Amino acid sequence: MDSIVVKGGRELNGQIHIAGAKNAALALMPATLLSEEPLTLTNAPRLSDMKTMAELLRSLGAEITALQDGKVQVMSTHGAINTTADYDIVRKMRASNLVLGPLLAREGHAIVSLPGGCAIGARPMDIHTDGLEKMGASIELKDGYLHAKAAGGKLKGAVIDFPFASVGATENLMMAATLAKGTTVINNAAREPEIVDLATCLRAMGAQIEGDGTSRIEIQGVDRLGGATHPVVTDRIELGTYMLAPVFTGGEIECIGGRMHLVESFVEKLDAAGVDVTETKLGLKVKRRGDRPRAVDVTTEPFPGFPTDLQAQMMAMLCIADGKSVLTETIFENRFMHAPELIRMGADIEVHGNTATVTGVDKMKGAPVMATDLRASVSLILAGLASEGETIVNRVYHLDRGYEHVEEKLGAVGAQIERITGK
Ligand code: UD1
Repeated sequence: MDSIVVKGGRELNGQIHIAGAKNAALALMPATLLSEEPLTLTNAPRLSDMKTMAELLRSLGAEITALQDGKVQVMSTHGAINTTADYDIVRKMRASNLVLGPLLAREGHAIVSLPGGCAIGARPMDIHTDGLEKMGASIELKDGYLHAKAAGGKLKGAVIDFPFASVGATENLMMAATLAKGTTVINNAAREPEIVDLATCLRAMGAQIEGDGTSRIEIQGVDRLGGATHPVVTDRIELGTYMLAPVFTGGEIECIGGRMHLVESFVEKLDAAGVDVTETKLGLKVKRRGDRPRAVDVTTEPFPGFPTDLQAQMMAMLCIADGKSVLTETIFENRFMHAPELIRMGADIEVHGNTATVTGVDKMKGAPVMATDLRASVSLILAGLASEGETIVNRVYHLDRGYEHVEEKLGAVGAQIERITGK
């Protein structure tokens, strides 16, 4: 298994290009199941999760060609398709559950493995299945698989009130509703930029959707969807991650492709922590004002609140901030697994349930560490940039799921970082 070695203490300066959003692309790819015509995604991120989604879609009958080193994905799902999403692929990645809505909408039935829990929490699918049931589907759990069938072979429009603004459920239901009979309204829908990106692509394919980006989305079902070419929105989580890099090290980084509206709540916290962010023609420029960031309290929330996917990286920064910060995680029940690893690097963190109190230290020290999830791994790399000595981050396969060429991107702006290829 590969590991990443970081030697701390180097100031970072220059530009980092931000990729297309993983979480948007993983919802956009299953949209190919809704149409017989080709769907082309440009600005696709080159990540192992994209390969997993391609493997799943191919197993269902889609043809997928990756062009320009994976940056362009051409997908086509014409003819007969298989409606069973197998456990062996689904278990690798929770976003696999996003094929359920499209399969059910197109074929009227689907058998999709439940993804199972993951390191950060149990992550059930009740909001997805309750919504599909409201649209006339009957869903049964047998042998770990959801067996779903639309009454009369076609989903019907419905008014669906989500108990929580789930991102995945909003995406699944929005896709399902595009081909349903009649109008579907999703109340308390998620408002993430990735939802808007998916709705924009579906509209380009001929779907009738209004209200994406607000908590009420209305979808008028149509008989068929066509093809489209769609550029994937910038990855606001990769953006936020690299925006933090100069806060750890000093220097100035311009994140190319970054836009303020994608990271407003995050930028508010950076400002309170003593970090300047300015919008340029090409992206966002970041520089810390003093020698050290200041402590700041953070609570994760659905968009437009502070994203849970930047919580680990923010915690790493608060470890070297001046003062005491309280971090509260409200989205996932078990998302502080990076804390014990950061403590091994000299951080002062106390975790009580869903809050963590971080007392900043002057300097952290490099150590061998490992991560249990994607955002946790990158938080350890960021901490390594500001630590004395060498940090070795193991289990890099987590990182490769969501960050393309992290060592090249950070290396190009001055970091001492390399990948050691294991067996
Ligand atoms: C998506 C993102 C993930 C991000 C998360 C929250 C993708 C591929 N992943 O995940 O990176 O951290 O949004 O911003 O886009 N829940 C239920 N029942 C359900 C669905 C969700 O109880 O049917 C709970 C989950 O267990 C979790 C919370 O709701 O505690 C948020 O989940 P959700 O918004 O659905 O996240 P995902 O779509 O899985």
